Amino acid sequence: MEDIDSFLFKFKGYYFLRPGLDIGFLETLNDFEIREDDVFIVTYPKSGTIWFQQILNLIYFDEHRKSTGNLETVFRVPYFEYPDQNTDFVKRPSPRLFTTHLPYYLVPSGLKNKKAKIIYVYRNPKDVMCSYFHFSKKMPLPTTSTIEEFMQLFLEGKVLGSLWFDHIKGWHEHKSLFNIEFMMYEEFKKDLRGSMLKVCKFLGKELSDEDMDTVVSQAMFENMKLDPRANYDNILKDQFGIQEKGHFLRKGTIGDWKNYMTVEQNERFDKIFQKNMKDFPLKFIWDMNEE
Ligand code: A3P
Repeated sequence: MEDIDSFLFKFKGYYFLRPGLDIGFLETLNDFEIREDDVFIVTYPKSGTIWFQQILNLIYFDEHRKSTGNLETVFRVPYFEYPDQNTDFVKRPSPRLFTTHLPYYLVPSGLKNKKAKIIYVYRNPKDVMCSYFHFSKKMPLPTTSTIEEFMQLFLEGKVLGSLWFDHIKGWHEHKSLFNIEFMMYEEFKKDLRGSMLKVCKFLGKELSDEDMDTVVSQAMFENMKLDPRANYDNILKDQFGIQEKGHFLRKGTIGDWKNYMTVEQNERFDKIFQKNMKDFPLKFIWDMNEE
């Protein structure tokens, strides 16, 4: 098991990615001025973050949808807590779109005016954990050789994003403070078009049937995997020197955890899940055949 502190940095009880972290900026997050038309995607890592970056790009930008522009999705929907040195969020035109993994208590207090919109994307945590396990092997992140050891890290919250239970429960328990909509990864897998209509409704965007067809097609796993603007292959190469492709868009399925967890590990996970998520109202889909 690798040394966690060499990859992660704990700030106000939450684990951030250490390389390039601007702690001075983190100190100012609470006061960052929010505009009424800002939109934030909030995720726990490995829950479909880059999928939603692609979805927002497709909904908001004609040139992305029509493939006349080459800008990568992350530049239009940047990570809020990891600003690029060349990006000044204050100078960005409205509507500003952001991505964040932040817990509810670290986001700008201006989000509590309930005008700016937040989409919280969640995914069943067994698939999150398995996706994370594979991802951690390729990235500068704490990793382990077995899923058993990784499960221990994950269930102790010693990973980027800290404890999954705290993240989702924190946001959900405080949802009345924000203009927030919870969307489930698995629902997008099962009914991409219907889910896309819900996103558009929440964002107040109306697309023609033809544009909606394009959005749905380009957001599909197989197509997004081939889209260099959306698949992060260039970013991994440029920022982390990773030449291999396909690390972010690995499988994109529901229930892949069954290929990695033993019956005993699954039962142990279930017990911890039930203890932590007792009375939690959102449902989860663990298997592709589940309704
Ligand atoms: P897997 O590792 O299970 O394949 P994040 O962007 O938060 O890091 O999440 C990455 C996960 O979302 C990966 O899961 C990836 O395959 C999945 N994903 C990304 N785009 C997707 C898409 N268009 N459809 C389905 N899953 C997608």
